[in-house]
Amino acid sequence: MKHYLPNDLTVPEVQRLLQGGVGPRPIALVSTLSKDGINNLSPFSFFNVFGANPPIIAFSPSRRGKDASLKDSYINLTETKECVVQAVTYSMVEQVSLASTEYEPNVDEFIKSGLTPINSDIVKPIRVKESPFQMECKLLEIRSFGEGGASANIAICEVLKFHVAEDLFVDGIIHPNKIDLVARMSKDFYCRAFGDAVFEVEKPIGKKGIGYDQLPDFIKQSNIYSANNLGKFGNTESIPPDKEVDDFISQMNNEKPVNYESGEDAFYRYQRDGNYNFMLKAALEILSQDKIKGKRLLELSAKASLESNDTEFAWKIAMFAGRI
Ligand SMILES: Cc1cc2nc3c(=O)[nH]c(=O)nc-3n(C[C@H](O)[C@H](O)[C@H](O)COP(=O)(O)O)c2cc1C
Repeated sequence: MKHYLPNDLTVPEVQRLLQGGVGPRPIALVSTLSKDGINNLSPFSFFNVFGANPPIIAFSPSRRGKDASLKDSYINLTETKECVVQAVTYSMVEQVSLASTEYEPNVDEFIKSGLTPINSDIVKPIRVKESPFQMECKLLEIRSFGEGGASANIAICEVLKFHVAEDLFVDGIIHPNKIDLVARMSKDFYCRAFGDAVFEVEKPIGKKGIGYDQLPDFIKQSNIYSANNLGKFGNTESIPPDKEVDDFISQMNNEKPVNYESGEDAFYRYQRDGNYNFMLKAALEILSQDKIKGKRLLELSAKASLESNDTEFAWKIAMFAGRI
């Protein structure tokens, strides 16, 4: 590890560390209005949500790094105390980056970025039509920390009204693949929360997993299971009893599935296809000829079923493999 005290670094070095290690950061595309009626639009990735009752979000229009001056968004917010914060999606990210250009205060970044202005219902700042998730907000307070370049000005806002595109919803939630959000990382890196980048981790709400410490040693010490696999095993409430494992294995041994092929080549083909049922069947057959290889293939079958969220199935194989 490298170790740093902030005071031993320059401000840009501290900023680079923070931007590299704290991410991916959601991006707030913030629309404000100056007291002279000029629209301003700027992205801020020092941004998040902090509560739902009332709905509170905050972002930081920091002082400029080069001369410690205040940004137009900050000035507008302190003067007019309203903003609209919109989510940034993949299809608009280049225009949003364009909106981050340091134009003069009298320049309307809606015009510069080509993003489409639409009126808000409650606040004066206007919304960005291209964003499918828009929040009309009032400023509650700004907390400033320091007066040098890149110092924080945290604008804490309450959401007064949400505008959400209907097609974002799947089963009552905003689905990641529908909203297609982007986030900021270090330097010029962004990431897109879509497709293969999106995965699910089951919440341990309402249940108490046995915990990592209660996992049998043969599971903890296996070189097949990853740390994530162990975490998932530890998140289940009980270990299947021997009888259940025996019944399951003999049922598997007796099954004669159609289109099933034996052998190691077939096993790895099933692994590629994510067919953990057939992986187990092939592993059990190989086990009767070669215990070491069979055990390894059984653990690979447990891993595959675990990663397909069939934790019960995985536990039974893992417990059986542990006896070998
Ligand atoms: C994706 C992205 C995220 C940004 N995040 C921040 C941020 O969190 N805080 C900040 O002060 N500037 C941030 N910036 C830079 C501002 O957008 C930029 O300084 C902008 O010109 C400020 O405009 P204003 O002076 O009109 O308020 C970011 C820029 C981009 C492209």
